[in-house]
Amino acid sequence: MKIGIIGAGNIGSTLTKRFCALGHEVRVANSRGPETLAELASETGATPVSVSEAAIDADVVVVTIPEKNVPDLPIGFLDGAAQDVVVIDTGNYYPQQRDGLIQAIEDGVAESRWVSNQIGFPVIKAFNGIQAMHLLVDGKPEGAPGRIALPVAGDDPRAKKVVMDLVNQLGFDPVDAGDLDESWRQEPGTPSYGADADVDTLRLKLVEALHVRPPAFKA
Ligand SMILES: NC(=O)c1ccc[n+]([C@@H]2O[C@H](COP(=O)([O-])OP(=O)(O)OC[C@H]3O[C@@H](n4cnc5c(N)ncnc54)[C@H](OP(=O)(O)O)[C@@H]3O)[C@@H](O)[C@H]2O)c1
Repeated sequence: MKIGIIGAGNIGSTLTKRFCALGHEVRVANSRGPETLAELASETGATPVSVSEAAIDADVVVVTIPEKNVPDLPIGFLDGAAQDVVVIDTGNYYPQQRDGLIQAIEDGVAESRWVSNQIGFPVIKAFNGIQAMHLLVDGKPEGAPGRIALPVAGDDPRAKKVVMDLVNQLGFDPVDAGDLDESWRQEPGTPSYGADADVDTLRLKLVEALHVRPPAFKA
């Protein structure tokens, strides 16, 4: 697949490494420009590009930047993508440590719904609740005992299946976590977040989640 990755930090660089190793064609962008991505590019074979070039011809675009920076993405950054492009949001809202106040999220809008509203395009929420290092090294073959399960939420069943297939390729069991408005179940502070749980445990944790933002995750 052709995959554009916007953000080349902990998660963006990890996904670049893993997707390239699987044989996907990856374009990767950060905020400072492609010349700052030479090392990642030579290590992985990914093509470093500007944000406005990341989605060109892409079947999948991953937005993996701090929540507070999402409104800075240039208008039209998805122009030139495949007609049925699937957009993945890996983001989390960390108001106290990083993002400051985002009122709509504080008022109860699911974080990925807010991202989708900001970019004016549907997103699938995935990879938000696993540490980058675990995403890099803890993938296992399908059926292996203790395989970590990852929740995938979104409104479009076709797009969700594309992402669930990628999760499986990366060595994790994908779990359908419902639609985007329900994706608060996998946000920071919920039982599944960072749990590295197997499928059955993850499903239980998603059900157990309470729709109350813990104080640590409020501005
Ligand atoms: N760290 C984790 O283990 C983890 C796990 C799951 C989910 N997440 C979530 O995933 C998102 C990314 O996390 P991270 O830890 O990978 O972040 P990070 O290490 O801080 O990296 C952020 C990346 O976003 C880029 N960026 C910022 N603003 C941008 C813009 N306007 N256009 C293009 N690129 C921009 C930065 O580019 P420059 O360096 O050039 O500024 C940098 O490459 C966050 O929402 C985070 O909460 C993180």
